[in-house]
Amino acid sequence: MNILLLGHGKTGSLVAEVARERHHGLQIAGSKENTACAALTSEKLKDVDAVIDFTAPHCVVANIEACAKAGKNMIVGTTGWYSEIDRIRALVDRHQTGFLYAANFSIGVNLFFDIARTAAAALQHDYTGQIFERHHVHKKDAPSGTAIAIQQVIRESSGHGSHKNDNLEITSFREGEVVGQHEVVLESAADTIYLCHDAKSRRGFAEGAVRAAEWLVGKKGFYDFKDVWREL
Ligand SMILES: NC(=O)c1ccc[n+]([C@@H]2O[C@H](COP(=O)([O-])OP(=O)(O)OC[C@H]3O[C@@H](n4cnc5c(N)ncnc54)[C@H](OP(=O)(O)O)[C@@H]3O)[C@@H](O)[C@H]2O)c1
Repeated sequence: MNILLLGHGKTGSLVAEVARERHHGLQIAGSKENTACAALTSEKLKDVDAVIDFTAPHCVVANIEACAKAGKNMIVGTTGWYSEIDRIRALVDRHQTGFLYAANFSIGVNLFFDIARTAAAALQHDYTGQIFERHHVHKKDAPSGTAIAIQQVIRESSGHGSHKNDNLEITSFREGEVVGQHEVVLESAADTIYLCHDAKSRRGFAEGAVRAAEWLVGKKGFYDFKDVWREL
């Protein structure tokens, strides 16, 4: 594939490494090359098969809009835009492109979502729950997209809003260079259940994103990685 990578920061640089290892053609645009979406015109994208975005919350929506208008498939790792998700889904449908996003592209975290989904049954049995997330001090959004995704899968699996405790509170910590730690704690009068995922490096995010781009080839529609990762 010919991939255009937006963002060459902490995660984007690993995406570049993985894309090259998997023998893809690669162009990279950082904030300078992509001011006002300059790298995302139809002309610039003519030989590009897919755009991968690991940029920042302030520019990701404009990037998504430009790619949809140019008819390009897109994989979005950047978080902090989910309040606009319904509008983006409609935009992707209108332009008939392929779009895949994830709050977290690591296989382990996506497995963790399934574990959290199962554990949500506790909320029907007098448990209360909390979510804790820890990330490095440079992270721009809080709570993390992954914590919001965990909160959502638990809410959806606990009986669809019928329990007063099913909207788990998220507490965010920003410490040092922590890559990403997510914890779900479920508590009853009798016991406590701790579920924890601790990312050791960003490499898992990069591998998931590149494999997602490969999966999206030839597809149209709006996809959430947590629904498709088992097909990779
Ligand atoms: N879904 C996942 O699995 C996952 C995993 C890790 C991180 N993330 C998310 O991915 C995003 C990036 O994280 P990070 O830790 O890699 O951040 P980072 O180290 O700050 O890197 C962000 C990069 O985006 C570039 N950038 C900013 N505006 C841009 C624009 N308009 N066009 C192109 N590039 C632009 C910056 O380029 P310059 O240096 O040129 O300014 C910088 O290199 C965050 O939202 C984070 O939450 C998601």
